[in-house]
Amino acid sequence: MTAPSDTEAPDNDPVDTDSLLSTAQAAIAGARSIEEIRQVAASVSGKRSPLAEASRRLGALEPAARKALGQQIHQARTAIDGLLEQRRNDLEREERSRQMAEARMDLTEFIPGSIPAPAARGHLHLVSQTRDSLEDVFVGMGFEAAEGPEIETDWFNFGALNMPPAHPARSMFDTFYLNLGPPESTVLRTHTSPVQIHLMEEAVASGGLPIHAVMPGRAYRHETEDARHLAVFHQIEGLVVDKGITFADLAGTIQVFTTAYFGPDIHSRLRPAYFPFTEPSAEFEVTCTICHGEGCRTCSQTGWIELGGCGMVDPAVFDAVGIDADEWTGFAFGFGIDRCAQMRHQIADMRALTENDLRFLRQF
Ligand code: DAH
Repeated sequence: MTAPSDTEAPDNDPVDTDSLLSTAQAAIAGARSIEEIRQVAASVSGKRSPLAEASRRLGALEPAARKALGQQIHQARTAIDGLLEQRRNDLEREERSRQMAEARMDLTEFIPGSIPAPAARGHLHLVSQTRDSLEDVFVGMGFEAAEGPEIETDWFNFGALNMPPAHPARSMFDTFYLNLGPPESTVLRTHTSPVQIHLMEEAVASGGLPIHAVMPGRAYRHETEDARHLAVFHQIEGLVVDKGITFADLAGTIQVFTTAYFGPDIHSRLRPAYFPFTEPSAEFEVTCTICHGEGCRTCSQTGWIELGGCGMVDPAVFDAVGIDADEWTGFAFGFGIDRCAQMRHQIADMRALTENDLRFLRQF
């Protein structure tokens, strides 16, 4: 395309396409928005623009002048349309990036109060926490943790533990019987001691002796609940079967455990007792933490709280599971997890553990 010039323009040309073009150029460059470029487009190349006006006058011109002016108008229009198109594109691009900048979200920005508080999380019940920390203490001493069933046959809960049918010691355990099999053959375990039998039977079957294990779990007794007793409660059982185990090992284990769990200020004592499955047997007591030994309702004015029992595994129990009592000796213990929680946290009435009062539970 050849650039139009004044010298080439016919003398009678009433239209200065060069100045139309430069006016249009300035207007297009000055448009600041899509809306403005739309208005500029109408004024420089629309139906009422000087360019359109000039085209309309072409018909009245001589053929040669018409041809010359027609070409100039065509060139000007092509140039103007190109400029409009380019400016429109630029403005659209600017507009798009402005919109994107406005809509952009800063995902790292924290606006206080704009995010709902995280849902409140619960936590383990105090009894579960206590079971875990008791387990930790014993695992730290080299024991393994094991579990057994809560429903037991008479054999596991009583018979193998040296309490044959009608043995007077059975009255120590107020038993819930299940309507399963022959009468009184199936029970809700009254203690965790039957897990000892399971472990020893398994060890004999698989050559798994020696045994150093603790067995936490739930136990059941048909009795009236009071400040120190629940009908559904928790015990942790301990069993060591090895060679040359003595009562000193038992006493030392109880002592280490007491200090590790209750701290150096709590005293413990072993008192002679009777259990069919241990000989000799002892009761394991700690200073009442509610009254610090003064005597109160919780400890029945004695100043001591019985945590559980212990002793040297009775040879009759080894016989029941097929362990040679001449080769192996062992000690066992069993005590209340709920009692430990009660003493550690000075809970005057143990029944609070099962009442599900959140004001109580949330304290631990
Ligand atoms: N099972 C007994 C009870 O529930 C506690 C006990 C006493 C467990 C002596 C033992 C033990 O392992 O050797 O009262």
